[in-house]
Amino acid sequence: MSTIPRYDVLIVGSGAAGMSLALQLPSALQVAILSKSEVGSGSTLWAQGGMAAVLHDRDSVQAHVDDTLSAGAGLCHQPAVQFTVGRSRQIVDWLVSQGMNFDLREDQQDAEFREFHLTMEGGHSHRRVIHAADQTGRALSEVLAGRVAEASNISLLTDRCLVDVIKDGQRACGAYLLSTADSRVETVRADAIVLATGGASKAYRYTTNPNGASGDGIAAAWRAGCRIANMEFNQFHPTCLYHPDSRSFLMTEALRGEGATLTLPNGDRFMARFDARGELAPRDIVARAIDFEMKRLGTECVYLDISHQSSDLITRHFPQAYERCLPLGIDITRDRIPVVPAAHYTCGGVVVDQHGASDVPGLYVVGESACTGLHGANRMASNSLLECFVYAQSAAEHIADSISPRSTLPEAWDDSRVRDSDEEVVIQHNWQELRRLMWDYVGIVRTSRRLRYAAERITLLEKEVSGYYGRFQITLPLLEMRNLARVAKLMVECASDREESRGLHYNSDYPDAAAKGLDSILVPPHFDRRTALTGPIDRLPPYAS
Ligand code: FAD
Ligand code: SIN
Repeated sequence: MSTIPRYDVLIVGSGAAGMSLALQLPSALQVAILSKSEVGSGSTLWAQGGMAAVLHDRDSVQAHVDDTLSAGAGLCHQPAVQFTVGRSRQIVDWLVSQGMNFDLREDQQDAEFREFHLTMEGGHSHRRVIHAADQTGRALSEVLAGRVAEASNISLLTDRCLVDVIKDGQRACGAYLLSTADSRVETVRADAIVLATGGASKAYRYTTNPNGASGDGIAAAWRAGCRIANMEFNQFHPTCLYHPDSRSFLMTEALRGEGATLTLPNGDRFMARFDARGELAPRDIVARAIDFEMKRLGTECVYLDISHQSSDLITRHFPQAYERCLPLGIDITRDRIPVVPAAHYTCGGVVVDQHGASDVPGLYVVGESACTGLHGANRMASNSLLECFVYAQSAAEHIADSISPRSTLPEAWDDSRVRDSDEEVVIQHNWQELRRLMWDYVGIVRTSRRLRYAAERITLLEKEVSGYYGRFQITLPLLEMRNLARVAKLMVECASDREESRGLHYNSDYPDAAAKGLDSILVPPHFDRRTALTGPIDRLPPYAS
């Protein structure tokens, strides 16, 4: 008799997408949520500005759709945009029903029908970002985690890292999981598998993302045979705090929404020279303008200044930013904040349909790992949380309607031919080299020659990591490095193929946009037992022969 654990639905990832999907599945289904470390260890916890939704009378679905299409630089898929924005109010209602408290307008606290406080961000033509001060992600994570803990049909498996999806013929039927506590690899079965593993911005040396954003789900989906699209569109957030004692802390775009200006070291504003919308232009434009000015002047950072607002407004709406900066000697109610761009969001990902279904039957992908067509060549601020919730809901509906029990028994993991590693330093070195290389050669401004150089180096790094993966017991750093090398390769392949500049992809050898925007879609090599993986043959999942 098999001892392989079985779930109806296995969800990899405990962020906004993974947890909200689990909570919307029928309670008759047995569900497991996996998390690489503790719950909420992904980007969701760190989300600041909020979630875009059409809530104000003067706003409209059409206006939100138009803004998203415009920010996406001609590459958004209109049906995906319409679908996502059209469900925004419903998602807010669902979150409120789960116990989420969004901020209300200060002047309406006692009224019978209280209105949400809506803030503004780049690319939006209306105030439409609903939030919980500047810690929206933390509030959402806590509410969702509380509901998950109460649900008797949901098991939360922390400290488990997905190694690979297992297929039975064409269909996903389980997964190999590394338990990081005891380094054992478990095999689990499931009738539906959902990848909700977040983005891949750790591919870059400087990023706003937490550890763990190593593109694991995207790399695993590629290995399982899914198409991956638009990986060249890695978004750089314009305003990451620049201070030696506080790397990678985001200064929310909502600060600019409340009037914060961007200035050069001499105090001059510069955004009007780049776009008529100034500081509230879409992110690709603002990040590129900052990069241009920093290189032109040889300066290490530019400055963000909200000091024109009252201390009361600043500390009420931005308590986290205020408290984070104060110990560094920066009082944001009076002082300018030093900022630089940093890698922030993966616009591309696994190609999915409106239900989050990938090319592999039984395998769904939701949240930042997916490419739904919503973001095109540049995501508009605060559309990501909305996409997580909308597609999680739609995938939950699809799974509920279509799931059927299967009897496949995946082959158990076999590591009898590998040994403990004695060269961890190699992984550390490769990790640093890859992230530096991506920052220097595949950053905000690219050239064809630098992309070629990056492709050559990453091919070598991937080969080294692959050899390592084949010989040694797997560890979390090894798995993350293996995935990062793969997603970096996908990013460079997409970037190299795009002989134009559009949205987040700027190649100075092709500075203009082509007349028609096309997606970059990468198709994995056909899978069979002999060519499926680069690891040792005993690790091959049981594909049909
Ligand atoms: P995540 O929240 O990143 O969760 C991924 C989960 O997958 C984690 O639980 C992780 O442990 C798990 N995981 C990953 N790999 C594995 C593996 N191999 N095995 C097991 N588990 C794995 N967007 C907005 O719309 N509004 C904002 O205000 C906003 N602010 C942001 C601020 C910051 C600092 C950052 C970094 C991002 C922000 N974003 C914002 C983007 C948004 O937060 C993310 O895109 C979104 O939260 C992603 O949610 P997710 O559920 O897809 O993934
Ligand atoms: C921010 O608060 O600036 C981040 C918003 C986002 O990434 O959508």
